[in-house]
Amino acid sequence: MPMPCTKKSLHPMQIITTPNDIQSWAIAARNQNQRIGFVPTMGYLHEGHCSLLKTARQHCDQLVLSIFVNPTQFGPNEDFDRYPKNWEGDLDRAKTCGVDIVFHPDAEGMYPTSDKPNPIEDRVHTWINALHTNGSHDLLHQLCGQFRPGHFQGVATVVAKLFDMVQPHTAYFGEKDYQQLQVIHRMVDDLHVPVEIKGCPIVREADGLAMSSRNTYLSITDRKRALCLYQAIQTAQRLITNGCTNPLRITQAAMECVQSATDRIDYVTLCDAKTLTPLHTWQAPSVLAIAAWIGTTRLIDNVIFP
Ligand code: PAJ
Repeated sequence: MPMPCTKKSLHPMQIITTPNDIQSWAIAARNQNQRIGFVPTMGYLHEGHCSLLKTARQHCDQLVLSIFVNPTQFGPNEDFDRYPKNWEGDLDRAKTCGVDIVFHPDAEGMYPTSDKPNPIEDRVHTWINALHTNGSHDLLHQLCGQFRPGHFQGVATVVAKLFDMVQPHTAYFGEKDYQQLQVIHRMVDDLHVPVEIKGCPIVREADGLAMSSRNTYLSITDRKRALCLYQAIQTAQRLITNGCTNPLRITQAAMECVQSATDRIDYVTLCDAKTLTPLHTWQAPSVLAIAAWIGTTRLIDNVIFP
């Protein structure tokens, strides 16, 4: 059950649906010296999202949650059309976590129809794509970047738009989507965006499965198979605790766990915690990142070695 929030709002939770309205709200809140905390999501909220909201609640006067399934970060064969939704459940969770404002725009508002109504990607004339810093070693080409072309461009663009609308002092992102967190850090640094980015730890089910809205796609049998990602992480952790410093041995041991129970592996990679380039010799901080498929469901997980 969600924990009660530490800082209760005096006003009932408000739902705002247009970019103009949230921007006017944000300007007024800032004029009253209110600290705005922001948690962007695609909805179908679970305890992972709630942990971000509860952390944010402790450090802001106004807590904004956005719920928007962003079409521009999904590839043509991905799950945009079937992405799970639970509006009433989301509002209940938001209230329990002490949210002040739910920003729930539609695609028309976020990506207004211009001369080119469809596909939606054609309505975007300005993309955030300022993530190339290091040639082939840039963040966009590591890990998920190789398997989801255009994904992080879509994420960075929508997050930049949301930041301009909500004007938060601080925004909270989960380490569950580790590469996304690094991409946002990089964008904010590169473009001098005046928003502080906070990373929050992965929240797991009791048996270790990382919480994800996509877990709802899993059948009971597939749900059991999905545990192999966590087992791979534990295996790598054990090796490192026992003094292993050989990246190849660590990734191979993790790979064996994932291979045994998944249908396809996108990657099992030990990489530099900031640049996400694969490691050939041990260094810290590093991250073991995994992406694998169970049937038609793509799961990701990771562990940070600080
Ligand atoms: P979504 O998948 O809904 O996730 C929203 C936020 O919740 C992200 O920062 C994500 O890392 C975090 N989160 C998800 N599962 C978590 C878990 N088990 N533990 C901790 N945090 C978790 O990520 C997105 O939406 C979108 O890409 C978005 C940033 C909203 C842009 O569209």
